[in-house]
Amino acid sequence: PLKSMAKLAAIASILAASFNVFAEPVEIKFSHVVAENTPKGQMALKFKELIEKRLPGEYVVNVFPNSQLFGDNNELAALLLNDVQFVAPSLSKFERFTKKLQIFDLPFLFEDMAAVDRFQQSDSGQKLLNAMNRKGLIGLGYLHNGMKQFSANDPLSLPKDAKGKKFRIMASDVIAAQFDAVGAIPVKKPFSEVFTLLQTRAIDGQENTWSNTYSMKFYEVQSHITESNHGVLDYMVVTSNTFWKGLPADKRVIFKSSLDEAIALGNKIASEKDNEDKQAIIDSKRSELVTLTPAARQQWVNVMKPVWAKFEDQIGKDMIEAAVAANT
Ligand code: LMR
Repeated sequence: PLKSMAKLAAIASILAASFNVFAEPVEIKFSHVVAENTPKGQMALKFKELIEKRLPGEYVVNVFPNSQLFGDNNELAALLLNDVQFVAPSLSKFERFTKKLQIFDLPFLFEDMAAVDRFQQSDSGQKLLNAMNRKGLIGLGYLHNGMKQFSANDPLSLPKDAKGKKFRIMASDVIAAQFDAVGAIPVKKPFSEVFTLLQTRAIDGQENTWSNTYSMKFYEVQSHITESNHGVLDYMVVTSNTFWKGLPADKRVIFKSSLDEAIALGNKIASEKDNEDKQAIIDSKRSELVTLTPAARQQWVNVMKPVWAKFEDQIGKDMIEAAVAANT
């Protein structure tokens, strides 16, 4: 009887494998570095919900927030090794794969998020989704967070106020040049370390969106936030060639449409959070808002905008012109 039981079990497992019944669902990992109550955090959870609803029993999507699984220093390498299948780093974090995305870091390029959106949806913007294909990365879509603001432990009203101060930046040479331009000291550090660096005063300031400043509690360890809207922090949702091409074609369609829907929700949350989180920070009274007069803001523009010329060759003049045109 033991022998026939074993035989039955073998037959059952062959049947299960060929009909995909009883088979374990395939685990998909989505890793990111921010909190769950953010545009990216909510987008990833929506994607999980849609995939598990549309492909029940076939896939489970496990979302790992807060750099729990991979952080800034290793998430793209992990993606290429297929240790994770989806990540959505900020556009500032792809420099090792392409110089083209540096365009998004140019200070004072985009007037507002509507302009960012117009550029991303234009032919030029859509072309950039494929900029890393030869390196094994596939850009599936852009996701918004918002415009960046400066924060520090002193009010930053004029460019000279930033002089000599250490600012944490993302790993971007354009952002480094932006802080060099005002005589500040940029320090490239992963997102997961920012709170502690600010709290211990190892660094003086940082730049980020209202959403990140709120959800990571940076406002509790920074006395002033300057409403500068000097640049954009947005994301690209990327997967690997290996994973994407390995998906059955019919499933790939469902993955893509689910992601598009999740991104649409994330973008809606981004625009809501931008105001809500700003207001929550103001209401907390932990950090004071510095508002720039048009003349003061113009000083920042004058000092930082020359950075564009330094990166024009790498980014492409046409691209920059297309982005500027998106402002109108
Ligand atoms: C940062 O490092 O400040 C941001 O890119 C974090 C994020 O993913 O929003």
